[in-house]
Parts: sequence; structure tokens; C-alpha cells
Amino acid sequence: MIYKDPLYGPWVLPTYLKELLHTKETLRTRGIAQASSPAHLLTFVARNRVQHGLGVARLMAEVVKHNRCDLDEELMVSSAFLHDFGNTPFSHLCEDFLQEMIGKNGETFLENILDCSETEKVLAGFGVASRDVVKIVAGQAKPMSDVLNGDIDVDNLDNILGFNKFAAVEAPAYDALGIAGSFRFMDGHWLLLGDCYADVQKWQIARRAAYMDVVYSSPHYNGISMLYRAVELALYEGEISPEFFRFSDIEAISYLMTCNPRTIELVDKMSRWKWYPEVASWEIKEPSRFVAKIAACTHRRRKLLDEICGTLGIAPEKICLAMQRGVETKRIKTPFLVECGRKLQGTKFERPPLRVRVFVSPEWQFKKPEIEAIISNNFHI
Ligand SMILES: [Fe+2]
Repeated sequence: MIYKDPLYGPWVLPTYLKELLHTKETLRTRGIAQASSPAHLLTFVARNRVQHGLGVARLMAEVVKHNRCDLDEELMVSSAFLHDFGNTPFSHLCEDFLQEMIGKNGETFLENILDCSETEKVLAGFGVASRDVVKIVAGQAKPMSDVLNGDIDVDNLDNILGFNKFAAVEAPAYDALGIAGSFRFMDGHWLLLGDCYADVQKWQIARRAAYMDVVYSSPHYNGISMLYRAVELALYEGEISPEFFRFSDIEAISYLMTCNPRTIELVDKMSRWKWYPEVASWEIKEPSRFVAKIAACTHRRRKLLDEICGTLGIAPEKICLAMQRGVETKRIKTPFLVECGRKLQGTKFERPPLRVRVFVSPEWQFKKPEIEAIISNNFHI
């Protein structure tokens, strides 16, 4: 089978990858968008997680081509293809809840998805154990797994290139295949050939553009904050079971529309693009330990929202809080190999701020000063 990849051109798929395309798990993953919202509800075009997986597999094949002595092709390319199969519906958006319910993230949940699955049988047919795939995907087979789950990896190289192309983000295009072909495993560590340094810098600019111009931007962030709150309120009501995390995006939206009235209202409004406006926001470069703890804990964030709702008389479905450390820049620790064996360490890096943003239903916008006061008092800012 020749797969016409929109980013890298035609690719004759290896037999093992072709077989993986037919499984039930691949079918499910086709229904999960490369964004935190179902594809049909986005304001931009996004690939699905199988299309992204094929792109990552293509880049991994390029890595393997230059490191055949150290890498098992079937294991590494299959892991690249399957790396997002453990994603919950709405991708990373539901990971907090997955963690809360079963103590796993989108990478380690792959173990549950693959257990006794069609995919596991196909993997076994060409001599790959699913537990080894999970270790590579979850970054537990260091240093080898760093090429898929590290500071610069084939997952993110494909993710940003594809995201920017389809979402029409204005950012430099970089040579992802060229960077993938520059990875070298030497003396037990990954290195990048110095020739790709300029393209890595372009990737960093492109990554920042993807997050700042679309992911953290209005209306995308407003919409996903509403969806997050909708799932959270369903969880409150005991309506989310572990089975929910195995749904595709559309199955999850359909299910949420059968939940409690507050969740239904949020999903319905978000689906109709009736996004809540942002009423308050903060960017905190050096958050105190107290604020960082709230950001990291779903219970503490919920408590803060409950306090706002209780004090101001706002119904829980009328307000959403997003609190997240940005990921638009990454510190690259992988060294670049330049002339005469000299190594150049990483690239420039500035840690992104913690962003706090509040969205409310339009009829409650007049409460902006009180909402700001409660959050400022809580955070001592
Ligand atoms: Fe990915």
C-alpha cells in the first residue's frame, strides 16, 4: 500500500504497519482529533490521531534508517504509529480526569487499550510485545525512547508541522524529515547532527506560533474550557466511568449530551459555537508554591470555582476556569554534533508562564470585578 502523506509525500507502507491499520483500535483512534475538541466542532482543520501516527511513523522510519545497529525497526516504527492510541476522547483535555479515576495518563493508558486487543495480536504476529511498545511510548525505555518522548522528538516534529499546515498558522515550515534523519545514537545517547540546527530553531518558532496563535487563543481556548467544565460536572455527578475514556470524540460528545442538565448546556453551547467570553486572565511567570499546587490539582481548582459560584451566586455551568503552565517553548537538552566532534548544547529557552483564565456565560460578565477579586485574594496577586 502506498500512503500519500500530506506532509512527506508517498510512502510504501511496511507490511507490519499496513496490518496495524485494520484493527479496531485504529478505527477508534481515527475518531480522535489532533486537538482538544472533536474535529467537526473546531474553527480550523485538524488531522486525526491515525494520520498523525502515520506521520510520526514515517519520521521514525527515517531515524531507524540512520541507526539500524541500535534500533529494532518493527518495535520503533510501530511504537511511533501507536503512540497516541492511549489518548482519551478530546485528547489531553480528559487526562486530568483519567489520572483522577485510574491513575494513568494518555501514554500509560495505552497499556489498557492494547491489553487483549486486535492490535496486540498483530504486534505479536511480527514479534513485538505490546509491553515494549508501551515502554517506548511512555518514555520508560530511556534513552532509546527519548526519540519519541523527549525534549525534541519525532512526535512533536510531526505534530507542529501538521497542526500549522492544516490550521493555517503563519509560521516557518521546517524540514522534519531532515531533522529526523539527523538523529544519531552514539555512546548510549541521542545526538543531532549540527546541519539541522537552523531547522530546529524554525521548529521552535513554529511550536510557539501553534500554541500562541491557535491553541491558547480565542475562540479555541474558550471552547475547550467549556468542554473541560462539562466533563468535570459529569464527573461530579458520578456519570463518568472508566469506559468513557475508551470512547472516540463523537461517542463522548453524544454520551455527554445524555448526562446532567449542566453538562448538556455546556456541550450544547460549545457545539453551537456560543463560546463564553473571557472575563479575567493572569500570566504568572514565577508562581508561588501555593498557586502551583492549585494549578496541578483538579480538586483545588474545583474548590476555587465552588467558592466563586457560592459567593457570587453563579451557577456551576456558567463559569469555567483554566489554569495551566504553558508548553509553547521547550528546553532542548539533546546536544548538536558540530565539526570535529564538538558538541553544541541545546538552544535558547524561556520558561512559559502559568496562565489563569476565567470564562463566564455573557449574562454574568458584570461580575468581572468580583471574580478578579476572589482569585487575586486566593493567589495573593
Ligand atoms: Fe502525538
